[in-house]
Amino acid sequence: MALERTLILFKPDAVQRRLCGTLLQRIENKGLKIVGLKMLQVTPELAQQHYAEHVDKPFYPLLEEFITSGPVVALTAEGPEAVSVVRTMMGPTNGRDAAPGTIRGDFGASRQMNLMHGSDSPEAAEREIAIYFGEEGLLDYETTLGGWVCAEDEK
Ligand code: RTP
Ligand code: MG
Repeated sequence: MALERTLILFKPDAVQRRLCGTLLQRIENKGLKIVGLKMLQVTPELAQQHYAEHVDKPFYPLLEEFITSGPVVALTAEGPEAVSVVRTMMGPTNGRDAAPGTIRGDFGASRQMNLMHGSDSPEAAEREIAIYFGEEGLLDYETTLGGWVCAEDEK
């Protein structure tokens, strides 16, 4: 088991629908530790960097238009297997396929306006955290409750 960090975005639809507090609460309730948090406007250049794997796909222009359409909230969250834990919490890309109980299943029914981004592998997380935060943008600190969210051998 590995302690991982993952990059999360609350996408423009989540900000506009005033769901940031609700989504952040789910992440905190899960026991993940927030080590970076900020609001920003994604530029086309940043979108191309973040979604580099999708830039040549037919849906990319609409994806760029959407992700740059308003402010987003970017977070870095830390915990055991944080990358897959957050992907499971989000559910599949299309909210119409996402099960109730998942974030995309509970709050949306769209493939594009799916509220939240989460890194899809530890390698992607490292790349995306560097893009949005850099090393100096993250905080390393101990939480008082840290010993109560998982055992030592799960870290
Ligand atoms: P994300 O990267 O935003 O967390 O979403 P994801 O991993 O679930 O999905 P991904 O395959 O990485 O696609 C990135 C975003 O592109 C849009 N998309 N549109 N029209 C289409 O076929 C299509 N496929 C993907 C979605 O907004 C998706 O979140
Ligand atoms: Mg993705």
